[in-house]
Amino acid sequence: MKIAFVGCGFVFDIYMRTRWAYPELEICGVFDINRERATHVGKHYGLHVYDTYELLLADADVSAVINLTNIAAHYEVTRRALLAGKHVYSEKPLTTELSLTRDLFELASQRGLVLTGAPCNVFADSIRTLLRAVRDGAIGKPVLVYAELDYGPAHLMKLEHKTSSTGAPWPYVEEFQSGCTFEHIGYHLAWICALLGPVGALTAFSKQLIAYKTDTPLSPDDTPDYSVANLEFANGAAARVTCSIVAPRDHRLRVIGLEGELCVDSYSHFRAPVTLERFSPVSLAGRKLRTLRNHPVLGRLFGVGGQRLPLLHHDKSHALNAEHGAHRSLKTRFIDWLRRHETYCQDKLLGIAEMERALREQRPQPLTPDFLMHINEITLLVQRAGSQGLTATPSTTFAPFQFADTCGDKLPSAHITYRPRLCERLLHRFTQSHD
Ligand SMILES: NC(=O)c1ccc[n+]([C@@H]2O[C@H](COP(=O)([O-])OP(=O)(O)OC[C@H]3O[C@@H](n4cnc5c(N)ncnc54)[C@H](O)[C@@H]3O)[C@@H](O)[C@H]2O)c1
Repeated sequence: MKIAFVGCGFVFDIYMRTRWAYPELEICGVFDINRERATHVGKHYGLHVYDTYELLLADADVSAVINLTNIAAHYEVTRRALLAGKHVYSEKPLTTELSLTRDLFELASQRGLVLTGAPCNVFADSIRTLLRAVRDGAIGKPVLVYAELDYGPAHLMKLEHKTSSTGAPWPYVEEFQSGCTFEHIGYHLAWICALLGPVGALTAFSKQLIAYKTDTPLSPDDTPDYSVANLEFANGAAARVTCSIVAPRDHRLRVIGLEGELCVDSYSHFRAPVTLERFSPVSLAGRKLRTLRNHPVLGRLFGVGGQRLPLLHHDKSHALNAEHGAHRSLKTRFIDWLRRHETYCQDKLLGIAEMERALREQRPQPLTPDFLMHINEITLLVQRAGSQGLTATPSTTFAPFQFADTCGDKLPSAHITYRPRLCERLLHRFTQSHD
């Protein structure tokens, strides 16, 4: 598929990291209203630079526009692309109002075009492993989700100095003004809704906790930097999602079922370890002991914290193995290696590749318009809940879906392969014989 990028800021460089693994995505060129920036990345990555958006849209070779502009520009950039007959993949959130998002999906549908977008972490190896383990009955019926999206205390993080690999400043003003929930909650909502279906009702609270984050004047200057949302699902399950740029970094996601728990260390690492604990009297009682709780290696001997599951591998997982294309020093290569292994490892082109695959195979997009509108609506409701709290019944919904199987290998069911550790088994037998 021939694509063109609009918006070459901070996140553009993240998209470029895995470009080498996607020969099926041919980049015709880039455009940015910041001409200097567009020229810089054009030269750096060897890409054609369009002088105007009109020229990009007039390029008959381009079949899809990738919208990486600032959130306020999303609507207009996407609308113009659809009017020009291009498919669109947009960064999240799609727009700032549900009515605008609906307009865009209607326009796409009238023109027989695809409109889809981020987040694509639902396709990550770790999330797919988790979804598959739940589907296989590894934890019994899932009833509760706890999801954390704490990005660290922004006021201490010197975010004014953070730049991308080609020098784009991290857009801290936009991030502070639009809010961490608006920017981030979609990552958790996408997999939670993929797992549990549409949200039937929600209760949310959002508030600014730290007024001073930067010397740069902000408008508005009171955007919530903390939110908590309780989501209720039609199948009776519930989820609690917390977002902040106040608490130290924590991106864990946990799914608790009637028979066990699945835990992923981070949504933002596509190969984050996934652990399964099948509850036993020993593992549940073991949790009461501080030593077993605080020393995972010891705890695991007794089932506390469970066992690591082998990850499912997407047939594009190898994209995470390396980064090519940028001229990088030994130092930046080491830092990138460390990041890929320890903190953050995303393949943002994966969503576009899934879009291309569905188009090529002439099947519906994996993330349907209804699904994306629902994520958009919940995001807006939680961000704007306010400190008085909000209860709401979302107006959007979607038909629960199964992802097409794009994982190359077939793993045995986690439910079948799970075997309690020796200490857990022995203690279990011992406690039973003393009942
Ligand atoms: N920064 C991140 O870590 C991050 C991560 C994931 C997703 N995102 C999302 O990606 C999008 C872009 O974020 P970013 O961090 O790259 O922002 P950015 O401010 O660094 O870059 C946005 C770029 O879009 C350009 N632009 C704005 N309006 C335009 C228009 N009408 N036409 C052409 N170009 C235009 C700007 O000049 C700028 O270069 C946002 O939707 C954001 O939520 C950002």
